[in-house]
Amino acid sequence: MIKLKDIEMRYNDNGQEILALKLKELDISEGKQVAFVGASGSGKTTLFNLISGMIVPTEGSVQVNDLDITSLKESERDLFRANHIGYIFQDFNLFNEFTVLQNVILPLSFSKSYSKKEMNDLAKNVLKQVGIEEKINQKVKTLSGGEKQRVAIARSIINAPDIILADEPTGNLDYKNGTKIMEILTKIAREKNATLIVITHNNSQLDMFDEVIDIEKMNEAIK
Ligand SMILES: Nc1ncnc2c1ncn2[C@@H]1O[C@H](COP(=O)(O)OP(=O)(O)OP(=O)(O)O)[C@@H](O)[C@H]1O
Ligand SMILES: [Mg+2]
Repeated sequence: MIKLKDIEMRYNDNGQEILALKLKELDISEGKQVAFVGASGSGKTTLFNLISGMIVPTEGSVQVNDLDITSLKESERDLFRANHIGYIFQDFNLFNEFTVLQNVILPLSFSKSYSKKEMNDLAKNVLKQVGIEEKINQKVKTLSGGEKQRVAIARSIINAPDIILADEPTGNLDYKNGTKIMEILTKIAREKNATLIVITHNNSQLDMFDEVIDIEKMNEAIK
């Protein structure tokens, strides 16, 4: 269960305060598949960063699985994220000079220790789920956009998260590849019983979700 209450997120931009997000209440129950829509700058990535504990709100509480993550120290939030969150970033955040394997096992280095063999096996497993196990030793810079996105998905699920956050995972893909990637993501989340929260600008994908939330309607900072 994800529960945000009385949230205000203010950024400090060169001494000037910007209220980016203000929302009274947001509840997302376990195992749900939810899509967020809304114009550029409406606070979608900010919301994801709050749910994942990358940032803490200026006001209000963010509760995930009965834990108020706003009360945690930064190191505790890092551990929380390593154990519970899979994050597919808006711009991939992959390391181009590293191989697929090196990229995919990265989240494991933040939680408990795994042997090299365990990491390899886990990586092979998630790469198989997204259909690019044969690329495991290739450098990321040699992959296509769709393949990179699959690597980002594989990396986001290697820690068996109970929440997957995908920030425009199909943003720079053509229609066919975008649909395919979204199908992979929803299927994997369903199989793993993970809550899936996606940001998308692609209206044709919205039918795949249990709920579609327009952040522009919720965010009182932009009303
Ligand atoms: N680190 C930051 N410092 C200052 N302002 C920020 C910061 N991050 C975001 N903002 C501002 O907060 C607002 C919301 O940004 P956010 O990235 O959440 O939007 P978004 O809905 O994800 O947009 P997009 O669709 O373009 O990705 C914007 O006005 C943005 O300029
Ligand atoms: Mg964004």
